[in-house]
Amino acid sequence: MSRHGGTRVGSGRSKLSPEIKKKSYKVYMNIETSQQIELFGVGESFSSKVIDLVQSEIKNRSHIKEMRFIDLFAGIGGFRIALEEFGHKCVFSSEMDKYCQKVYEDNFKDTPSGDITQISENSIPDFDILTAGFPCQPFSYAGRQEGFNDKTRGTLFFDVLRIIKAKRPKMFLLENVKGLKSHNNGETMDIILSSLKELGYDVHWKILDSHKFGVPQKRERWYCVGFDKKVDFKFPIQTNPNTTLKDIVDVEAKHPDLELSEFEKSRIQHHFSSSEIRVPHDNSMYAPNTKKGKHGVFSFLKSDKTLRFHIGDAAKTQIQEAYYCSLDSVAPAIIAAREPKLWDISRRLSVDECRKLQGFPDKFIFNVSNLQAKKQLGNSVAVPVIREIVRNMLYYYK
Ligand SMILES: C[S@@+](CC[C@H](N)C(=O)[O-])C[C@H]1O[C@@H](n2cnc3c(N)ncnc32)[C@H](O)[C@@H]1O
Repeated sequence: MSRHGGTRVGSGRSKLSPEIKKKSYKVYMNIETSQQIELFGVGESFSSKVIDLVQSEIKNRSHIKEMRFIDLFAGIGGFRIALEEFGHKCVFSSEMDKYCQKVYEDNFKDTPSGDITQISENSIPDFDILTAGFPCQPFSYAGRQEGFNDKTRGTLFFDVLRIIKAKRPKMFLLENVKGLKSHNNGETMDIILSSLKELGYDVHWKILDSHKFGVPQKRERWYCVGFDKKVDFKFPIQTNPNTTLKDIVDVEAKHPDLELSEFEKSRIQHHFSSSEIRVPHDNSMYAPNTKKGKHGVFSFLKSDKTLRFHIGDAAKTQIQEAYYCSLDSVAPAIIAAREPKLWDISRRLSVDECRKLQGFPDKFIFNVSNLQAKKQLGNSVAVPVIREIVRNMLYYYK
């Protein structure tokens, strides 16, 4: 029998199933940690000692598994995606916009209840975690007010408060625009924090930028977490600021609906055909009595590769009139009815690209108009930021 070529029956290793097949991982650790693994791990090899320790710690943390949560001002369920990833169960949701309800139902097979102001806290099932990206509204400071709680009456935040007060969840996660911090000279935020503390919660807040969580969108938002006991909570560390729109834009995608108008294209072309840094545009293009007609428009390519149009003279250009990003830049925060536009590929972003900007999964479906889908994504949370905050909430709530 020849010893070369061919495959002998019964030779070689049989294929292992993916569940038991082992993969190698490179892990960096200091000497002290490796000594501790040798000391505390059970097993014959270093590798089996590491696996033993990791698995026992996973078991240790299993108390955080399968918590019940409620999704208030649910929109299209950005919070829900992140919490379900960790194995938690949504037991109640509320959203009153019918288009959001439809997208929510299509994706989660669950229809949210409507107007939260009409829902009694007693009819909500018990839960451990509350999430809410509540609309920011001014509080009334007039009249006789007993406590912080009373100052919020009549606002949608009051509904968040009354539910927390009645149901006493272990923790909550709130989200709002960055401007909440300075709204009404900081008084709005003070009332929010004080009223949550008045209910006995340990409260922490921070402004975080989505771009530092892996999506090419500068979206700074106010996040607030609270616990029913003292928790040494830390917000996730912001890293990963290297993504740009190139990472999510499909440059091959073309659709007439996405194209910029001829007027926009000609203004962009005018900018790049000039050698000036701050390029003046033709005032006669604009009605003389408008701000543009009176003061003129200037365009300027910033070092972050975004092209900005301003109204004013060359030196005094404080009114921003148009904003175009590019494949090498980051998108500004997407908001309802304003999707980012790119000057270098002369188009606006598609629904799918806006979905990626918010870190929603590929399988997420939008059976509504593109206009509705973009509005919903503009109002939603960036899932990667929520995922990291939730991870820390579960970790620090021992
Ligand atoms: C900022 S969005 C929150 C989006 C959500 N976090 C997401 O990830 O999609 C606020 C939502 O609250 C909803 N809303 C406003 N008032 C409401 C009310 N009284 N009851 C229920 N939902 C309400 C709006 O329709 C809107 O979708």
